[in-house]
This record gives sequence, C-alpha cells and structure tokens, in this order.
Amino acid sequence: MSLLEKHGVIERNASLLLVLSLLVVTVGGIVEIAPLFYFQNTIEKVDGMRPYTPLELAGRNIYLREGCYVCHSQMIRPFRDEVERYGHYSLAAESMYDHPFQWGSKRTGPDLARVGGRYSDVWHVEHLTNPQALVPESIMPRYGFLSQAELDYRNIAADLKVNAILGVPYSEEAIANAAADLVAQATVDGDTSGLASRYANARAADFDGNPAKVTEMDAVVAYLQMLGTLVDFTTYDAKANYR
Ligand code: HEC
Repeated sequence: MSLLEKHGVIERNASLLLVLSLLVVTVGGIVEIAPLFYFQNTIEKVDGMRPYTPLELAGRNIYLREGCYVCHSQMIRPFRDEVERYGHYSLAAESMYDHPFQWGSKRTGPDLARVGGRYSDVWHVEHLTNPQALVPESIMPRYGFLSQAELDYRNIAADLKVNAILGVPYSEEAIANAAADLVAQATVDGDTSGLASRYANARAADFDGNPAKVTEMDAVVAYLQMLGTLVDFTTYDAKANYR
C-alpha cells in the first residue's frame, strides 16, 4: 500500500480522521503553548517604557469613553508600507501597560501608535475641535466639547490602584500623589519635580491653551502627545531582544 493509499483509508473513515486530527492539533498546541510557561516574561524588556502619568491615563480613559478606537488602531505592523508611513513597528512592550490594549482591527482614520510629537498641542486642539478645518475631507467627528468639560479626576488615585493590581508598576507614592501629579502636568508654572521623579520624560504643558482650568482636552492631548514616544528607536536594538 502506497503512502497515498494509506492516507486514503484515513480520509474515508470519519472517526479515524477525527481522532487523528485531534491528535495532531494537540501535539501542535503543546509545542506552541508549553514553552510559554517556562519564560519569566513573554514580553521583551525595552528601555524607556513607563506607566502612564495620571493625566495621560485620564486622557486614555476619555479616548476609550469617546470610542476613538472605533476608527483608530494603535499597532504598526512590521510591513514596509506601514513602517514608512507611521514609523517603527509597534513592540509588544509598548502596550504592556494598556488595560485593555488599543491595537484595534479597523482603521477609518490613521494608526495613532506613534502620533505623539508629530503635531503641536495647538494642532491637536484645533483638529479635535474641528477636524475639517485642517483636513477638509475628514469624516472625523468634532470633539470641541472636551475643551469646555472640566476634567473630573476625583477617582484618579483609585484608577492607578486598579492598574497596579493588574500589574502596572505604580508605587504607593505614585498612587498617593496621583491627583497632584495630574494637576502639575496640566499646569505650566507648577512644581513638576515630583512628576519628573516618578515619570521619566513626562512633559508638563497647558495642553489645551486655557490655563484657567484642567479640561478633558488637556488630558486627551497629553495622552496623544506621548503615544509611541517612550522607546528611543535610535538606540533600540531589535536583535538584542531575541533569546
Ligand atoms: C468616525 C471615525 C473617527 C473617530 C470616531 C475618530 N477619528 Fe480621528 N480621524 C479619523 C479620520 C478619518 C482621520 C484622518 C483625517 C483627519 O486628520 O481628520 C482622523 C485623524 C486623527 C488624528 C490625526 C492622525 C494623523 O496621523 O494625522 C488624530 C490625532 C485623531 N484622529 C484623534 C482622534 C481622537 C482622539 C478621537 C476620539 C476623541 C478620534 N480621533 C475619533 C476618524 C475618526
């Protein structure tokens, strides 16, 4: 009996085919999954990653609340067209503090994984207020109300605490100072020494251009402006991270 004929026996016997298929899938599954239990961490460590500042986290919450993810992904795939358009492909480590992650599967608008620093704060405020003023053919909705809405950060410490339970390394000190750090980052002349000591490369600014109050616009722009900026790709060595 040739090999092809032997295989014919399996193909004509549904039960045998089922049992053998299960066996093959099981072996394949074990080979793929079992090694993961022996790694300390399945996400490679990358320099520069830090948890979100309280203001950025508040901005992220608004991003989720407003459903920005419905039109925007945050994952640059390792394909040439994507890398040329958006920058270095996304690393797993870059979303390790995201609960839930914002990779997304639909791009009505562009990917935002590296939008941080690409435009000025003023550009973002104007664009969010009236996207069509800057990109006439844009179908993005207007979010000008964010500038009027005072940011409600009464629960920000609890928010950090929940993230800490989920594994984000927020210290007791960071949680205790969450509200103060939030205000310090959204104010120009405030004392930012505490903020700087807890969060590397956290930029303090009056993001919405209105120094009178901390608004939801401040938080969203602070969040957008840090996206994809934490890892320094001039020094990042992808090969060094392979074991
Ligand atoms: C209905 C789909 C839709 C929703 C919802 C949406 N956007 Fe957009 N967004 C777009 C489109 C389309 C563009 C491209 C045209 C433009 O720049 O306006 C865009 C562009 C952008 C850009 C500029 C990106 C770049 O690289 O030029 C940013 C930043 C942005 N959106 C942020 C947001 C935020 C923040 C929210 C939620 C508050 C949001 N978007 C909600 C569709 C959407």
